Amino acid sequence: MRLPMIVCLAFLMAGASAMADPLRDQVKSLFEPIPETPPALPREPATPEKLALGKMLYFDPRLSENHEISCSTCHNISMGGGGLSESVVQHREQLGGRKPPTVLNAVFNKWQFWDGRAADLKEQVMNSVMVNPRALLKARGGPTVINPAEMETTKQHAVERLKAIPGYVEAFKKAFPAEADPIVYDNVGRAIAVFEATLITPDAPFDRWLRGDDRALTEKQKQGLAIFVDKGCSNCHNGINIGGGIYARFGVVQNPGSEFLPPDDWGRFAITKNLSDKYVFKVPSLRNVELTAPYFHSDHTWDLKQAVSVMGEAQLGQQLSESEIDSVTQFLKSLTGRQPEVVLPILPPSVAATPRPQP
Ligand code: HEC
Ligand code: HEC
Repeated sequence: MRLPMIVCLAFLMAGASAMADPLRDQVKSLFEPIPETPPALPREPATPEKLALGKMLYFDPRLSENHEISCSTCHNISMGGGGLSESVVQHREQLGGRKPPTVLNAVFNKWQFWDGRAADLKEQVMNSVMVNPRALLKARGGPTVINPAEMETTKQHAVERLKAIPGYVEAFKKAFPAEADPIVYDNVGRAIAVFEATLITPDAPFDRWLRGDDRALTEKQKQGLAIFVDKGCSNCHNGINIGGGIYARFGVVQNPGSEFLPPDDWGRFAITKNLSDKYVFKVPSLRNVELTAPYFHSDHTWDLKQAVSVMGEAQLGQQLSESEIDSVTQFLKSLTGRQPEVVLPILPPSVAATPRPQP
C-alpha cells in the first residue's frame, strides 16, 4: 500500500510545479496557443493539389492588371506577412489608406479586413484590393472604404489570363477534379485560402509558457503580461490571436489624434452605416507584432513602445509609465512564433497567347 502513496505524492508534486503559477491560472482562460498543425477550413478540404495551386496564385503577379503586384507584394511572408507600408507606395490611397494586416494566423481572425467586411479568407480574396488597387481610389467617394466597383471586369481579366497559361489549366484541373470548368475566380479564392490557412506561427515563447514551460518568458515579460491583463488590454486583445475577435472604437476614451486616426476613414461605419460604428475597427491580432511595424490601420508609428503608449491613453485613459510600457513591449515580443517556411513555387510560364500586362 505504501508504494502507490509515494507515486501519488511524486505525481502531485510534479503537477504542482507546473500549476504553481498564479499568473498562468489567472490568464489561461483568456488566451489560447496556436496549434502545431494548420486548421482545416470549413467545407474546404486541403488537398496537396489545391495547396500547391493556392501557393502559386499567392506569388503570381499576373493576377494583377499590370503583372507587377502579387499578394506577396503587400503581404510579404519574409516580413511577418505584412510589409508594404504607405511610405513605400506613392499614394496612401493605393492601399485604400490602410496598412495591410498580416496574413500570418489570419485564418484565426473572426472576420477579415480592418472593418471586418469579409467573413473569411476566401471572401477576402474575392474582395481583394490586389486585383486593381487603384480601383479603390476611384471607388472611394468620401469617408468610406468600399470594395472596388470594377471588380467584376478585373476578376474576368484574371480568369482570362489564367486560362491562357497552360500550366494553370492543368493545376486547376488537379485541384478541382470534379469540376468541368475549374478556372473561375471563386476557385482562385478557395485555393489561396487553403494556402493561407497554412501560414500559422506556433511555438511562440508565450504559447510555450501557456502550456506550462515556466522559463519560456522572462520576468520582465511576465510583468508585462500582468500589466496587459490588469490594465485591460486583454479585454480587447484576447483569444487565440490576441485580437481578431471583436470590434472596438479606436479612441474609446480619448481621441488619439488625426495622425493615428485619420478623420476620413470611418472604419466599420462604411459597412454598417451605424453611427455607433464610426471609427470602429477590428481589434488587430498582436501575434508577431514586433515584425509588423508600422502600426495602426493608419500605418503611423514604427515604434512599438509608442503604439503601446497610444493604446494606454486612447483605449484605457491611462498614462502608462516608461517601465510599464517597456514591460508590455517585452511581453508583446514573446508573441513572435515560428515563422512559416515557404519554398517559393515555380510559376507556370506565359505563352504567346497569354494576355500581356496592361498599365
Ligand atoms: C496593394 C497591396 C495589397 C495586395 C496586392 C494584397 N493586399 Fe491584402 N490587404 C491589403 C490591405 C491594405 C488590406 C487592408 C484593407 C482594409 O482593411 O480595408 C489587406 C487585407 C488583407 C487581409 C485581411 C487580414 C486581416 O487581418 O484583416 C488578408 C487575409 C489579405 N489582405 C490577403 C491578401 C491576399 C490573399 C492577396 C492576394 C490575392 C492580397 N491580400 C493582396 C493590401 C494588399
Ligand atoms: C477597447 C479595446 C482595446 C483595448 C482596451 C486595447 N486595444 Fe490595442 N487596439 C485596439 C484597436 C481597435 C486597434 C486598432 C486601431 C487602429 O489602427 O484602428 C488596436 C491596435 C493595437 C496595436 C497596433 C497593432 C497593429 O498591428 O497595428 C497594438 C500594439 C495594441 N493595440 C496594443 C494594445 C495594448 C498594449 C493595450 C493595453 C495598454 C491595448 N492595445 C488596449 C483595441 C484595443
